[in-house]
Amino acid sequence: MVQHRLPMLPSAGEVPWIASVNGTEKKLNIENNAILLDVLRDQAGSLGTKRGCDMGTCGCCSVLIDGEPRLSCLTLAVEADGCKITTVEGLADGHHLHPIQEMFAECGGSQCGFCTPGFLVVASSLLENNPSPNDEEIKSAIEGNLCRCTGYQQIVDSIRAASEILISEETIEDSTSPKSDPHPGFTGE
Ligand code: FES
Ligand code: FES
Repeated sequence: MVQHRLPMLPSAGEVPWIASVNGTEKKLNIENNAILLDVLRDQAGSLGTKRGCDMGTCGCCSVLIDGEPRLSCLTLAVEADGCKITTVEGLADGHHLHPIQEMFAECGGSQCGFCTPGFLVVASSLLENNPSPNDEEIKSAIEGNLCRCTGYQQIVDSIRAASEILISEETIEDSTSPKSDPHPGFTGE
């Protein structure tokens, strides 16, 4: 005789859910009390978003919702309905890693790697809003993320190095973009 396992709780009921996950529209049916971390990992295919503590203390599950860092283990998926969600998989530009990814590899910011997706997402948001953070600002931005391997200094170094790359890229872009005419209307005649 087939034994059916009884659910611990009655089903909450499904609701339609649409969000842009790393630039791809995801149309899903989700339990209306589903946690965003579960939806991202189990239904949207974002296995880069890690489950660490599941209680809001480690930062491994960090994602960006409309550009703001959020803990996906403490966020109801319905809160992100209609939003733009960025996970670690969305940081690279095609085959080109985001400078923060390159510098974590270069400077030893990632060792076992389990905490890394959360740090990368939070650091990318920091650099988006503050391209040239000082060490105190970097430490403040990552204070919700835990790492058991690195001792944190390499992570701070990685973020600072990524900041330097982004600033130098901006400077190159500025110097190659056409300059505005400093003497509008002057014809030289
Ligand atoms: S899994 Fe979300 S904060 Fe640890
Ligand atoms: S690199 Fe291992 S926990 Fe951070």
